[in-house]
Amino acid sequence: MQVWTVANQKGGVGKTTTSVALAGLAAEQGQRVLLIDLDPQGSMTSYFGGDPDNTPVSVFTLFQDKAIICLESIVQLLIPTRFERMTLLPASTALATLERHGVGKGGLGLVICRTIEQVQDEFDLVVIDSPPVLGVLLINALAACDRLIIPVQTEYLALKGLDRMIHTLRMLSQSQQRLLEYVIVPTMFDQRTHASVGSLSSIRHKYGTQTWPSKIPVDTRLRDASKAGIPPHLFDSNSHSINSYRSLYQWLDKSQRKTEKVYFWTARQSLSGLGGM
Ligand SMILES: Nc1ncnc2c1ncn2[C@@H]1O[C@H](COP(=O)(O)OP(=O)(O)OP(=O)(O)O)[C@@H](O)[C@H]1O
Ligand SMILES: [Mg+2]
Repeated sequence: MQVWTVANQKGGVGKTTTSVALAGLAAEQGQRVLLIDLDPQGSMTSYFGGDPDNTPVSVFTLFQDKAIICLESIVQLLIPTRFERMTLLPASTALATLERHGVGKGGLGLVICRTIEQVQDEFDLVVIDSPPVLGVLLINALAACDRLIIPVQTEYLALKGLDRMIHTLRMLSQSQQRLLEYVIVPTMFDQRTHASVGSLSSIRHKYGTQTWPSKIPVDTRLRDASKAGIPPHLFDSNSHSINSYRSLYQWLDKSQRKTEKVYFWTARQSLSGLGGM
């Protein structure tokens, strides 16, 4: 099982849209996908018709005192969506109260890690949508993932927000002594505007090797898909944006398999060094 977190401390850059689009494309490929909504605004929960202001069960339950994180208790919180192979662990607005506990309070940072461990046989891919705020929820989303996807809106202030996010990652990598692989995904690109063209070239100039070589275009069909509550690939399978998300998904999937191969090869090497293979 793989865990992908979609995050950026800047708001409105396309995190929720990217999460739903990639999750939908993975489900289309036959993967069993769990979508975890870690944003107190609950945009992903609303996308699938839930009401984050008024949901009796949500991921919040797992963060409460004395919560027992086991398969049986997690299964009670999962909601099958009306789309094949897509299951949602919804958010509730109560999640906002967690942020008052601050970052790193005893044990709270690993709640999602422990949750995912319990469901690893039930799903092939977990996609986590996160809030645009550095706090205990974003820390959970980062601690749990194998791969981090950072959508960046191609506009004037993009680099500032991106620098802040990368700074956070460096701090966390040092404190957790773990290197997190990340990929920057330029979003809402509009080739007719100087702001889009200029900021895309600044992002590539500064973060070239960590940036996906293509971009997601601005496309009102994504807004329409969200309004209709339908994953973008099912809403309009031939729109410009879904074609771009499709090539992003294939690129992520391919580079993921490459990484696995390298790990496997390295493991073989070290075993043969020990006379094991
Ligand atoms: N490529 C795109 N073209 C046009 N509109 C888009 C595109 N991507 C996302 N949007 C729209 O922009 C708005 C913000 O997108 P989204 O909710 O995905 O951002 P977000 O980063 O999750 O926001 P927040 O930080 O508030 O959670 C939504 O109305 C969405 O439909
Ligand atoms: Mg969002």
